Amino acid sequence: IAKNIVSYPVGNIVSASKLSSTSSDNQIFKAILNEEYNSITAENDMKMSAMFDGPGDYDYEAGDAIVAYAKANGLRVHGHVLAWHKQQPAWLGTFSGTDEEFETAVLDYITNTVSHFAQEKMTVNDVEVPVVASWDVVNETFESGATDNVLYQKIDDFVAKAFQAARAGDPDVKLFYNDYGIAGDPGKRNSIITMVNDFKSRSIPIDGIGMQMHLNHNWPDTDLPTSIQDIADTGLLVHISELDVKVNYEEDITELTKDRAAEQEAQFQRAAYYYHTLVPAAQQHGITIWGFRDQDSWLYDNNTDWPLLYDNDFNYKVSHRGFINGLKGQAP
Ligand code: G3I
Repeated sequence: IAKNIVSYPVGNIVSASKLSSTSSDNQIFKAILNEEYNSITAENDMKMSAMFDGPGDYDYEAGDAIVAYAKANGLRVHGHVLAWHKQQPAWLGTFSGTDEEFETAVLDYITNTVSHFAQEKMTVNDVEVPVVASWDVVNETFESGATDNVLYQKIDDFVAKAFQAARAGDPDVKLFYNDYGIAGDPGKRNSIITMVNDFKSRSIPIDGIGMQMHLNHNWPDTDLPTSIQDIADTGLLVHISELDVKVNYEEDITELTKDRAAEQEAQFQRAAYYYHTLVPAAQQHGITIWGFRDQDSWLYDNNTDWPLLYDNDFNYKVSHRGFINGLKGQAP
């Protein structure tokens, strides 16, 4: 049982519709969630597309339902994601007001959303803590084309202002920058570290870095320890925020072969092992898996990839064993 092995949270993703569903599949999903995990991230329900209906017009219904479920079941919520150049409401791209009005609308949304979700508290080990412990403030700013988006075009120094707006919503919630490819792309990693140093020099608040870790079965070993060490060296919290392992990266197989299942097992073990051994305890924000059954994954695409820990009947795959062994600190 993942959560019982380690002292940092182990998470997975949810949606409000699955949490409220009484279908047998979703009953199994919830049983596994509650037994094996102690942290959740909303896969889509707490993004701008779901919550930001217009200037001053916010829809927190699905997010509130997720937080209520978490509170009732003693799960931490990691908020995802306040501002991203993807999954935006349509009105954002056609907003006809001034840039100043646009900036006010976006930054107010960020502040209000953090403040709204900071209200719910729960008691863990006799201590009252906020249910929503942390937020991804911005995702993936170094992706090619990201800065062509309205958020960047209309708001000068957008990423820094987003973090300031989030901090204005709550003094204590942990604020994360979240990105993919941190392990495989040293250039991006350096850009992120440069940004963190710039934020520190300007007193822009930032508490942590989310390493998404959408890995491949055949990713070189050395990238993981190097990148995890580099990110831990910032001194910030480190969250493996979206872990999954593609087995069909080259798109040349039609089923999960035994060899690739074994490589996937090893890759999950590496991710957990290096996180476990390289990130100092005080910086361990946890590891979040990006889905339950393979068929629920954003990568599944009509049975072309099988990136997760459970098969389509919710049975453990060998990847689950790898993940658990990594959490136990067993070297891959
Ligand atoms: O909600 C609509 C539904 O109304 C519509 O009928 C349907 C038709 O396609 O689409 C539904 O929206 C989909 C949404 O997921 C909810 O299911 C979008 O098309 C689909 O693009 C969206 O995909 C999500 C993706 O982010 C969007 O970029 C994935 O579920 C989600 O796993 C993925 O998560 C991202 C992280 O947030 C950031 N890091 C990368 C990660 C993987 O891409």
